[in-house]
Amino acid sequence: MRKFLSRFLVLSVFVVSFSIFFPLTSVSASKNSNNLIETTVIGHRGGSAHAPENTIAAFDKAVELNADYFELDVQMTKDGELIIMHDTTVDRTTDGSGKIKDLTFEEIKQLDAGSWFDPSFAGEKVPSFEEVLDRYRDEDIGILIELKDPELYPGIEQKVADALIEHNMDESNNDKWIVQSFNWESVQKFHEILPSMPTGALVGHGEAEDGEITNEMLESISSYAKYINPNKSLLDKNTVDRIHQYNLTTWPYTIKDEEWVDRLIDMGVDGIITDNPEFLIPNAKQMKSLIDKLIKEGELIGEKAKHDLKLHLTSVHHYEKEENTDKVIKHMNGFKSLLEQNKENKQISDKVYSILYDHANALIQKWKL
Ligand code: G3P
Ligand code: CA
Repeated sequence: MRKFLSRFLVLSVFVVSFSIFFPLTSVSASKNSNNLIETTVIGHRGGSAHAPENTIAAFDKAVELNADYFELDVQMTKDGELIIMHDTTVDRTTDGSGKIKDLTFEEIKQLDAGSWFDPSFAGEKVPSFEEVLDRYRDEDIGILIELKDPELYPGIEQKVADALIEHNMDESNNDKWIVQSFNWESVQKFHEILPSMPTGALVGHGEAEDGEITNEMLESISSYAKYINPNKSLLDKNTVDRIHQYNLTTWPYTIKDEEWVDRLIDMGVDGIITDNPEFLIPNAKQMKSLIDKLIKEGELIGEKAKHDLKLHLTSVHHYEKEENTDKVIKHMNGFKSLLEQNKENKQISDKVYSILYDHANALIQKWKL
């Protein structure tokens, strides 16, 4: 699986020089050196457009679609267990009813968390936080952990920190695991308990001041958090630039409409929290640019390998334009075989193989959706 932090997206009309107007932070400077953009992709509640939110099926879907992270919501049961669910009641996303804080872990574990989404997911369970950490700790995907309504669960910050420590996930590890909340006091509390973990402040319309993310907010948030993740409608280019001036990284939520992707990337955001990680899977033409970028970065791709791989991608792109799913999948499988041969013949490096192979798999998954 490709390293979880990098993604390249070609936007042909995107040529901007922020530096004329704003001092560049390291984040924005690295992103605009040419027309290949690195954008972090976060599967909201997993790949929740395709599987029941906040379940293992949804998190696996985010892995399959090559997301860099999946996001989840943590809450606490009556008997003090951490479970994954968005709403504070089980009513919408299970066949049960009642508040999470009034139900025991065992009671919640009996519920069906899949059928409401589609009968094919019948029997999907509400995952515990433990279970998720166990399953994905060593996977090549990060986890964006939201403390959901922590004011309802006194002590949840310590519990989450303890679970992360127990799993040796309390070091930043290149920001692979991040804790965020709309409740900024809770984020500060968590930061004091576990300063080694990166944290994020979520900003909805309720947290903003008259629809504005002010410099005062940014100054305060930057003293305890690395990330500020706002509702997409609170952002414009000026706000994103101000966020970067405070050395904060910004991942807006929740993108459900593909049109928003380009708009937000044009603003200079660092990541996109989306129900549809496939929106950011590069198409075959973009994969050709990725090959050029890898060569520029000094990665091994022999001349013949470069020619053959790009030629193959040209024909895949032709079938993409025709929306010929069978042919796209067939030729992407051919592309994977070509990668294998070139790896065996040492015409491409292991890193190139792994990046392109993962992109190829993700592209196939996208066409299978
Ligand atoms: O991570 C951002 C997003 O999850 C915040 O909104 O309501 O989906 O938890 P919500
Ligand atoms: Ca959430």
